[in-house]
Amino acid sequence: MTDVQLECQEIWKRFGGFEALKGIDMEVKRGEILGLIGPNGAGKSTLLNLINGIYAPTKGRIFFDGNEITGKKPHEICRIGIARVFQIPRPFYEMSCLDNVVTAIVFNSGLDTASAEKKALELLEFVGMKYPERRPDEVTLQDKRRVELARALACGPKLLLVDEYMAGLNPSEIQEAVELLKKVNKELGITLIWVEHVMPAIMGLAERVVVLDHGIKIAEGRPEEVVKVKKVIEAYLGSDTAVEA
Ligand SMILES: Nc1ncnc2c1ncn2[C@@H]1O[C@H](COP(=O)(O)OP(=O)(O)OP(=O)(O)O)[C@@H](O)[C@H]1O
Ligand SMILES: [Mg+2]
Repeated sequence: MTDVQLECQEIWKRFGGFEALKGIDMEVKRGEILGLIGPNGAGKSTLLNLINGIYAPTKGRIFFDGNEITGKKPHEICRIGIARVFQIPRPFYEMSCLDNVVTAIVFNSGLDTASAEKKALELLEFVGMKYPERRPDEVTLQDKRRVELARALACGPKLLLVDEYMAGLNPSEIQEAVELLKKVNKELGITLIWVEHVMPAIMGLAERVVVLDHGIKIAEGRPEEVVKVKKVIEAYLGSDTAVEA
């Protein structure tokens, strides 16, 4: 097996007359944490939307574990081992956090409710969620994110797409969230493509970074190298951005 798990070849995405992605090539290695960064509107979430099948690319091809997945639907993508944590959590508000995860497990695996509940409690414990019986509107944003992560883990992914997991969290919550993503990667062996604006978190955790701007890949490499690239500073970081971990 090669060490490339996901490969995007010459990916284009047009919305009406607007080109959101313009010929993106990207390789993701098995087991790595790849940071995907860039200014608002750069095309980061769109690229995740193409990988997990919410949209099909206008042009280009996507391969996972050597098999083409271009244009497959989200539930098919989930079943072959790619899960998504969304920028804005979208739980079912009328049921408990536990039942949100149970529902995801039953949908993805067909397990009976009792076995699904046992697995859901294990996942919620893994992500550090202490209030499984509460409804999502009764818990903090950090706990909503934990539940969202547990739901994504419910399909047993090999690759997890994480979109702005740190947004809206305070510094100590960010530190805990960094540790949690690290645990997902190291203990469960799950590859991460992680879109984030919180640069110190990216600097501390991502092994490699891809930078998008206006739908184009403008840089790629180790975080400490990428933050020195002139185009990246001009398009995104600014000269006085604090990037130390
Ligand atoms: N469904 C859509 N229809 C029309 N335009 C869209 C659609 N989805 C995204 N776009 C446009 O594509 C561009 C890229 O959007 P995208 O959400 O991928 O940016 P992003 O890099 O994730 O930005 P942010 O950091 O603000 O989340 C934006 O100009 C956006 O308005
Ligand atoms: Mg986005």
